[in-house]
Amino acid sequence: MGSEGEKLPPHILIFPYPIQGHLSPMLNLAHLFCLSEFHVTFVVSDFSHRRLLQHTAVASTFAHHPGFQFRTISDGLPDDHPRAGERVLEVYPSVTNVMVPRFKKMMADEDFLASAARRPVTCFVADGLLSFAVDFAEESQIPLLYFRTSTLSNLWAFFHINELIAAKEVPVKGDMDALVKSVPGMEGFLRRRDLPSFFRGGGEANDSLLKSLAAVSRQLVRAQGAIFNTFEDIEGPIISQLHSHIPKIYTIGPIHEHLKCRLIEKEAEAEILSGNFWAEDRSCIDWLNSQPPRSVIYVSFGSITVVTREQLMEFWHGLVNSSQRFLWVMRPDSVAGKEGGDDVPEEVVEGTKEKGYMVKWAPQEEVLNHPAVGGFLTHSGWNSTLESIVAGVPMICWPYFGDQTINSRFVSDVWGMGLDIKDSCDRLFVEKAVREVMEVRKDEFLERAQDWSKLAKKAVRKGGSSSVNLDDLVDYISSLLE
Ligand code: UDX
Repeated sequence: MGSEGEKLPPHILIFPYPIQGHLSPMLNLAHLFCLSEFHVTFVVSDFSHRRLLQHTAVASTFAHHPGFQFRTISDGLPDDHPRAGERVLEVYPSVTNVMVPRFKKMMADEDFLASAARRPVTCFVADGLLSFAVDFAEESQIPLLYFRTSTLSNLWAFFHINELIAAKEVPVKGDMDALVKSVPGMEGFLRRRDLPSFFRGGGEANDSLLKSLAAVSRQLVRAQGAIFNTFEDIEGPIISQLHSHIPKIYTIGPIHEHLKCRLIEKEAEAEILSGNFWAEDRSCIDWLNSQPPRSVIYVSFGSITVVTREQLMEFWHGLVNSSQRFLWVMRPDSVAGKEGGDDVPEEVVEGTKEKGYMVKWAPQEEVLNHPAVGGFLTHSGWNSTLESIVAGVPMICWPYFGDQTINSRFVSDVWGMGLDIKDSCDRLFVEKAVREVMEVRKDEFLERAQDWSKLAKKAVRKGGSSSVNLDDLVDYISSLLE
């Protein structure tokens, strides 16, 4: 590289797992790198790229950063594949068999994306689910940082899979409420039913994914370090335990709030991306504007959850019978009837009008920060959980799969900011939980939620733990050029 080339900034290659819940925090990370004037290449599936362009301000946001570029590759699935519910498990083999080989070819053909205006890749930031990344980075002699979109606690459980199997605590069966003894630091509160859902077993696709996830979790120790969308106050004890396995741990979350802080510090005007794959229906904000303070329970199950019609009806009756106001996100592909239909029953649409409001997709962060919202009935996806923590909103957790089953236990029993109703959505149960969070134990949950909110915001402000860690991360990457 000539003397001009030597002045070029570091070039980060970011490769997220191509589903919405992974893309949005990694796009926020890319944005943070852009604010440090780094060059970024962001690898995304054709499908996700189209959705992002259609439903987010991604184009205008990154127009401010000429060092940012997308590279699109097929994820190997047809456009009409649902990429949700149980069928989301099909994304994993397809990424391995189609997307990764195409990615490797692109890197080989393009000399690691070098050009006159861009140095070859300085550092590879790969999604924590991409197992090929370690061998690829070693062979290519590129430093690798893994980015995990879930918690350290979830990773810690995967780290102990062998011990869990040896102790016959996995596959999860028998007394689901028995405490798990093989995950150090969690012996006092983690029950079998709280382990990541893949540990329950259940079919070839699940078991094969479990094997891959356990292997890729272990592989983290071979990377130069790992980045986590979490913060020290909330997962401190696990961070200290993991430090003996992973050389560099950068906890820089909650990343959406962190980005907001850095944009304010820099007085930069840019929209924070939510990674939307659907159009936001902002009419729900007008509806919220006419509701009393903290009177509404917000109901949303993220981008992947699919409920059966029976479950839908139980939730609906529970909500209606609780007599609370509710705002419910009913994603277009989120209901599976026995007959395979996906429409919300007319009875529900009509019956909701009295005390509730329904949209297909909401501006979630804005909703959670709206004064009318007093609680969040959630599937405990990690992005949603962090957004609720930052907004200081108590949660009712009905985890669907993956890391959500462990997140919900932390929300209820470790952080004390809500209830965990996993494995049941019986209408009586839902009604009782809604009343508890919105009325009976409202003050208690709200106080804890507000405490966590303060700590989360402190972590990302100048001098806070996540802010210091992000500066360290930027310094580490810059030092790779020396
Ligand atoms: C998944 C996993 O659940 C999560 O735990 C994992 O670590 C990342 O991928 P998902 O199931 O979609 O993601 O849930 P979640 O992590 O909560 O992400 C959903 C995102 O969609 C949130 O950022 C939320 O703000 C956004 N959203 C959801 C909206 O913007 N509008 C909506 O109406 C619903």
